[in-house]
Amino acid sequence: MKKITTSSLLAKKQAGEKITALTAYDASFAKLFDSKGVDIILIGDSLGMVLKGEPDTLAVTVEEIAYHTRAVASGVTSTFVIADMPFMSYGTEVDAMHNAARLMAAGASMVKVEGGEWLCSTIQKLTERGVPVCAHLGLTPQSVHVFGGFKVQGRQQAQADKLCTDAQRLEAAGAQLLVLECIPQALAKRVSELLSIPVIGIGAGPDTDGQILVMHDMLGVSANYMPKFSKNYLAQTGDLHTAVETYIEEVKQGVFPGPEHSFVQ
Ligand code: KIV
Repeated sequence: MKKITTSSLLAKKQAGEKITALTAYDASFAKLFDSKGVDIILIGDSLGMVLKGEPDTLAVTVEEIAYHTRAVASGVTSTFVIADMPFMSYGTEVDAMHNAARLMAAGASMVKVEGGEWLCSTIQKLTERGVPVCAHLGLTPQSVHVFGGFKVQGRQQAQADKLCTDAQRLEAAGAQLLVLECIPQALAKRVSELLSIPVIGIGAGPDTDGQILVMHDMLGVSANYMPKFSKNYLAQTGDLHTAVETYIEEVKQGVFPGPEHSFVQ
């Protein structure tokens, strides 16, 4: 299998082929997902919740993400690896450069940051220095306390318009991928059509260029609870290999996410 790159991900968007993504945190699952043809593995700061059993992602450290990135990177040959930058690890541009360098050295091919327009200058500098960036808008979990809980974002018109402007500015600053989390499906469709870069959704309906799920959610083993937008593929299929294959197939065919996993408004 050929190595997935930012160019091949872009080509998929341009060809209208759906991109498949999952989180993973260790070499064994990374190897399995890679062998099944998952396009992207994200070492998400969701590890704070699904591995450590914490109530949110805020206590995750750069060391932890680097440790799990090394493990994942050692398990893949083809899949594109993205490392999440934890809470406050990119609060200043100096921190962002330093911490992104650590995650790239650990084996990531891209880093992910949460937030809107305020990140444009950071994204531009990271990209200029050789670090590809995935932006993340909508329900950005590192801001859970600002939002007053894990709530769907972009339901009001002004919020939706701001999200579209942010997305365009992040792309103009150099972001090469965008994750949209927990927003109404019509808004996700609008953003995906506005942008040239691939848009990956989670709880954002079926019209984004690809889908991502937290692996513990799609296997039904999350320590906390199962979000509405996720689907337990292990329960549906009865074995791990078929669960991953079915997830990939359903994303590619546009079967997942269905209306029951999406937010209409
Ligand atoms: O941390 C994570 O796993 C994420 C995904 C939910 C996109 O950011």
